[in-house]
Amino acid sequence: MSSTVLVTGGAGFIGANFIHLLARTRPDWNIVNLDALTYAGNLENLSALEQSPRYRFVHGDIRRAEDVSRAFDTCGSGPVTVVHFAAESHVDRSITSGLAFVETNVVGTQMLLDHARARKVKRFVHVSTDEVYGSLGKEGYFTEETPLAPNSPYSASKAASDMLVRAAVHTHGFEALTTRCSNNYGPYQFPEKLIPLMIANASEDKEVPVYGDGQNVRDWLYVEDHCEAILAVLERGRPGEVYNVGGHNEYPNLEIVRRVLALLAKSESLIRFVKDRPGHDRRYAIDAGKIERELGWRPRFTFEQALPLTIRWYQSQTTWLQRVRNGAYRDYYARQYGS
Ligand code: NAD
Ligand code: DAU
Repeated sequence: MSSTVLVTGGAGFIGANFIHLLARTRPDWNIVNLDALTYAGNLENLSALEQSPRYRFVHGDIRRAEDVSRAFDTCGSGPVTVVHFAAESHVDRSITSGLAFVETNVVGTQMLLDHARARKVKRFVHVSTDEVYGSLGKEGYFTEETPLAPNSPYSASKAASDMLVRAAVHTHGFEALTTRCSNNYGPYQFPEKLIPLMIANASEDKEVPVYGDGQNVRDWLYVEDHCEAILAVLERGRPGEVYNVGGHNEYPNLEIVRRVLALLAKSESLIRFVKDRPGHDRRYAIDAGKIERELGWRPRFTFEQALPLTIRWYQSQTTWLQRVRNGAYRDYYARQYGS
């Protein structure tokens, strides 16, 4: 009997890349994608798989019991695993309004855990973030033992969801695992996040906004490397464990912006220093030693390889970018699926 992976949030940036990775590398697996298609969900990211008999899309919300039930029904009677990406993911939006973050990231995660346990799911991978650890000074790295100290409504809601996963493991012996990754970049990222926003704006000779002094540091990882790490955790991770994922690839934001501009052959005069993000975490850096030692995972892409690849992807996908920026991508579901 073939196994099925229920992916939540598969129409978003990392979820879509993960589904493409599964389609390429796990030919025997069935894939069910449960996604509410919020502003961040774009089914055009998965249009290449629409005709595949191994892929099914379920339009539904992880906060709604009937939607989650319907998604599990779609998985059939064979063994099922879950990879949980669905979330409100943008820090700036959480600062403007935090409620949706609690509803989806916290309530939605508990809804999914309850159903997954009732359905006797074999394994559940919860995709979390390094932001749950808070902010670092100039030195040091986040390890899996670093105390959680989230600073934004987004990271607080993710930390809460991590605790609910931990409780399901501890109380119910549920086979759940958590990954905490640093900043991703690559194809299909919504152009509200730093790198795609810089590419999109600069390509049109628009200003690129840099928050504060531009010296906040992030640890950048190519999305395909993150997806491979999640797959390794799904297949070989130790039940109940947390795995940090990162690229040892730390740069201040200003350096990232300068590199993007240089690769696009655009002038640095496009840079505009703007008001800082409230509560802006200064530095993230990941110690990924545990996943490297235990599961043999390592990033395959260097920044020098993958940043140009990412820029070329956006340059070759002008229709995708245009449809995202003018909102036309939101009609795709109705046209393809007829509702
Ligand atoms: P994204 O915002 O691009 O995609 C989120 C997806 O979840 C969208 O398709 C959206 O429609 C869906 N969704 C939102 N609310 C939902 C709901 N209530 N029910 C069902 N679907 C819903 O996010 P992303 O950047 O791909 O991040 C995916 C996951 O990885 C998130 O959990 C995020 O916290 C985590 N993460 C992201 C990064 C990063 O750099 N982007 C790094 C580490 C961890
Ligand atoms: O660390 C993992 C996290 O990375 C994920 O959990 C989040 O889902 C993801 O959005 C990302 O969070 P950040 O806040 O780090 O990403 P963002 O792309 O929004 O910002 C990256 C850095 O760039 C941050 O220091 C803020 C800054 N920035 C961002 C934008 C959008 C700017 O200077 N200008 C901008 O216009």
